[in-house]
Amino acid sequence: MGRFNPNRVVNQARLYSEVIYDVVKSSISTGYPTDRKLASFFRKNKKFGSSDRRFVSETVFSLFRWWGWLRKFARSESVLWNIKDYNVATNQSWLRILLAANLLDRDALHPIAAQWKNSLKDFRTFSKYLETLGERIIEEKAAGISAIFKVQTLTERDLVPIWFSDECYIPKENLSLLINMFQKRPPIWIRGQCKNIVALCDELKKEGLTARRSDFLADAILIDQPKKNLFELESFKSGKFEIQDFASQVIGYVCHANAGQRWWDICAGAGGKSLQLASMMKAKGVVVSTDIRQWKLDDLKRRLRRGRFSNISIREWHGKGVPGRPANFDGVLVDAPCSCSGTWRRNPDARWTMTHDDVKSFPKIQLEILNKAAKGVKKNGVLVYATCSIFDRENESIIQEFIASRDDFRLDSFSHPISKKTVTGMLRIWPEEANSDAVFVCKMIRV
Ligand SMILES: C[S@@+](CC[C@H](N)C(=O)[O-])C[C@H]1O[C@@H](n2cnc3c(N)ncnc32)[C@H](O)[C@@H]1O
Repeated sequence: MGRFNPNRVVNQARLYSEVIYDVVKSSISTGYPTDRKLASFFRKNKKFGSSDRRFVSETVFSLFRWWGWLRKFARSESVLWNIKDYNVATNQSWLRILLAANLLDRDALHPIAAQWKNSLKDFRTFSKYLETLGERIIEEKAAGISAIFKVQTLTERDLVPIWFSDECYIPKENLSLLINMFQKRPPIWIRGQCKNIVALCDELKKEGLTARRSDFLADAILIDQPKKNLFELESFKSGKFEIQDFASQVIGYVCHANAGQRWWDICAGAGGKSLQLASMMKAKGVVVSTDIRQWKLDDLKRRLRRGRFSNISIREWHGKGVPGRPANFDGVLVDAPCSCSGTWRRNPDARWTMTHDDVKSFPKIQLEILNKAAKGVKKNGVLVYATCSIFDRENESIIQEFIASRDDFRLDSFSHPISKKTVTGMLRIWPEEANSDAVFVCKMIRV
């Protein structure tokens, strides 16, 4: 495999169309996250070199990003997902979908996509203008795709699930802005985890990356469309940075952990926020990181070894009591399990694999965890509730219900990380504000 060789493009185009079909079909039918599916496929199929992996992964994500339109290319989805294995590479509906996914996100036709185009029977050549659809705004993309593939009525609203407006109450113009952001390929944000962030940026630039420090969060660095695998950089292996979206870093900013404090990161997962809190505390004090999933905590163990942290204590926790004595933490963070709808730009597959019922199932567990977390907060201590969801029922509604049932907590003000205005407890970050994911974060204090 490896680089694209004109003599092998025909075979590669066939093989990739089959691989992409299997990955997308299986993600849609099982709801299993596509990034993990791809990672496991490439682990088992070592013959795929880095350029093969990149092209296959990018096409899979483009396909999900535009699935609301591309699904209209098939006569029916059940017909599309029941193509016999030996017909996948020549199936005309599937080839049209693959070609369109590439046209929508790229600024030039890739040699493999050109081969897919050649395999389409009776397919007209299209103008160079339409080959550069990737650079255009949504309305132009809709017009271009309709013209090439003769598919009617492609709207912005098709690009999110049908139940979306029942959950996300924002004005029409903001909805349009949000969907436009969801359709852009996301950049990578990292969080510097070393004393000298300027020197880290210089090191990354020497590696040929575009590293730009955020104007709003001191440790956040934007790496736009990296051409290198960040995990292979020496600066990553030595723990100088972690991959963490800007919006996620805002959660740590709101916690504002200080040296010498005790924090409980109740839903620590693989520990993105635990590491951030521990960094803020400058190795003084302790972060107790818990989660119901041990395998996620194992990831955190690896990360804290890489960053040489000694102030994080990890425990599996299934909802019983508080680690240590009750009310013994200066701060408790609930980075709650949620629909993750704020990450739909980065994980476009989730738009089509999450159901409306799934979304409705989260508030019960979110409120339950928040009440359990509250038991750990000492007097005048801080309770932070956060999600990467854009849906009201997982955010403001949870806080309203929590505050209404408790007279021992009140909202606490903090400064908006971008505008610097005072936020009276609840904050949302939208993708267009910082070229990031979306989050909700709320700061409360025990009175
Ligand atoms: C949004 S993720 C946390 C991400 C993590 N804080 C980070 O920064 O990488 C939510 C986490 O909640 C965990 N979780 C789900 N149900 C839980 C429960 N009942 N109690 C504690 N953790 C739970 C999940 O395993 C998942 O790791």
